[in-house]
Amino acid sequence: MIGVFDSGLGGLTALCELAELMPGEDFVYFGDTGRVPYGSKSADTIIRYSEEIMRFLLGFGIRAALVACGTASSAALPTLRRKFALPIFGVIDAAAEAAVRTTKNGRVGVIGTSTTIRLGAFAQKINELDPKIEVSSVACPLFVHLVEDGFTAPGDPVTLAAAERYLSPLRTAGIDTLVLGCTHYPIISGAIAAALPGVTLISSGKAAADMLASALKEDISPGKKGTIRCFVSDTPESFESAARVFMGDIPLGSAEFVDISKY
Ligand code: DGL
Repeated sequence: MIGVFDSGLGGLTALCELAELMPGEDFVYFGDTGRVPYGSKSADTIIRYSEEIMRFLLGFGIRAALVACGTASSAALPTLRRKFALPIFGVIDAAAEAAVRTTKNGRVGVIGTSTTIRLGAFAQKINELDPKIEVSSVACPLFVHLVEDGFTAPGDPVTLAAAERYLSPLRTAGIDTLVLGCTHYPIISGAIAAALPGVTLISSGKAAADMLASALKEDISPGKKGTIRCFVSDTPESFESAARVFMGDIPLGSAEFVDISKY
């Protein structure tokens, strides 16, 4: 079993990819819907939340974890790796590698929550891989709220306007590749692409899922169908209906509430 967590719905963009790449694997997903958003909180708070979630997930006997959240990966990954003895994947390295592989003109944009952009881990990793790449970073704090509140239909005018407002400086900067440094953002990729025509979008959740799936072998008997259990820290109903839309054909059981602060 593999544990995956995010502050809310965003990590489903990674889980979806993982379920397709590892169809026989069992997954346990935790969305911290009672405490979303993480992106405006301090690194210390995010580390505390992430440790609680890891302790909860370890109760399922997970063999690896994916921190499917750009903010928690930026703030908490080194601490989690020090404290918990299992492979823990984040979204930064995989997305940075994909961006470096993709860019042709050496100009890469990074968008994420305020905390992610302030901590600068995506830009740092990209420049570690290739110091010549010019990285332009922009915080898009409204995007997580738009996704969690359901402003996700293609052509939604509020989301299109927010995308135009945040992303026009990146158009001016001439980027050809954009890292979606928050796992919520692929859910509104239509609006992001509309503001940045011709720019290749890198989903950090998908890149991380690809990296995890190639690093870990599926630990299953042939023909076994994997299961997905979902837990949230607020009422399960709204999560379930939104989650089903994003997961498409991948069956999700009903989400269960957990009082995560007990862990
Ligand atoms: N999906 C989270 C991320 O990747 C959203 C953070 C938030 O809750 O603000 O950063």
